[in-house]
Amino acid sequence: MSAPSTILVTGGAGFIGSHACVELLDHGYELIVVDDYSNSRPQVFARVERIAGRFLGTVYELDIRDRRALSAVFDRHSVDAVVHFAAHKAVGTSTRMPIDYYDTNVGGTTALLNTMHEHGVHQLVFSSSCSVYGDAGHGPLDESTPARPTNPYAASKAICEQILADVCRRRPEYTVLCLRYFNPAGAHPSSLLGEDPSGSPENLLPNLAQVAIGRRERLRVFGDDYPTADGTAVRDYLHVMDTVEAHRVALDHLADGTGMRVYNLGIGKGSSVLDVIASFSDACGRPVPYEIVARRPGDVAELVADASAVARAWGWRPSRDLADMCRDAWRFQQLNPHGYTGSPRRASAKD
Ligand SMILES: NC(=O)c1ccc[n+]([C@@H]2O[C@H](COP(=O)([O-])OP(=O)(O)OC[C@H]3O[C@@H](n4cnc5c(N)ncnc54)[C@H](O)[C@@H]3O)[C@@H](O)[C@H]2O)c1
Repeated sequence: MSAPSTILVTGGAGFIGSHACVELLDHGYELIVVDDYSNSRPQVFARVERIAGRFLGTVYELDIRDRRALSAVFDRHSVDAVVHFAAHKAVGTSTRMPIDYYDTNVGGTTALLNTMHEHGVHQLVFSSSCSVYGDAGHGPLDESTPARPTNPYAASKAICEQILADVCRRRPEYTVLCLRYFNPAGAHPSSLLGEDPSGSPENLLPNLAQVAIGRRERLRVFGDDYPTADGTAVRDYLHVMDTVEAHRVALDHLADGTGMRVYNLGIGKGSSVLDVIASFSDACGRPVPYEIVARRPGDVAELVADASAVARAWGWRPSRDLADMCRDAWRFQQLNPHGYTGSPRRASAKD
């Protein structure tokens, strides 16, 4: 098996996907990108090209569940491997719209696998999530922790993992690297890319950034009665630049062997919601207003990674911390107060 050079990126217009495109372009990969823009905007691609200083590759607007459209992409391009980001990702919304979540996340993945199979493409990097561990309790979780999802989003990722494991067990030609991200956050250091979701963000950092810039009045903190040091939920935040660097390293290791390998991606340190608010307030130079509200259905108290397996396997470790994530997320928000729909402001000495 040879190392891949042409990569199909699903969900490449999204938060992590767009940063991954820059990282992969910087390392010489040829890309084909598909996205339906259900949670992103095509304007992001001009920024990706501006940072990378080269043509992105062909972009297709399509829903990955549309097998005919997806198949036409594989017909037109010689794809070596797929990096599969496209999914719906909001825990809260998934509890209200479970069918939609299973349809997009599970149905999208099986449509992709069928199409890959028909075209003889057998190498995949899959975006999974720490949410598959569910309410696994206190302390760092390694990959052997059983999946016990507590919401439809997490269950959809666990089901995809099960499908991928079954495919790899029965089809020895497949290689799947399943990366369980903890909480990717932050923005590209250029401030041209960041997190710009459609509608109200559910993730903490873009929510904080929108409050800090004045687009929202205050942050809602979901629950202060969890069994954690300050009562708010604890997560392991990982800089989006570290997240996408791990994908590039994963592609380097796809050819190491077949079968499915599962790795946690996190920094191995938990931060409570109140810790993140304090760090973001430091980054923007003023306290960010918040209010405590009831817990959100499907959320758990604590999710922190034991990320030693990926370090042992690939010698890769994240290098950025929460202060870096808050600084970069705030800078992106300041320079792009309306996200990708406006032109980026020029940085001034005050920024
Ligand atoms: N951001 C996180 O906190 C986090 C944590 C763990 C795992 N993940 C996973 O990482 C992946 C990327 O997350 P993200 O934060 O970049 O999310 P995102 O919403 O910013 O990006 C997902 C992209 O996929 C696209 N998409 C959704 N459904 C599609 C479909 N049916 N067909 C084509 N395109 C479709 C969206 O328009 C979007 O551009 C997702 O699979 C997500 O579940 C994210």
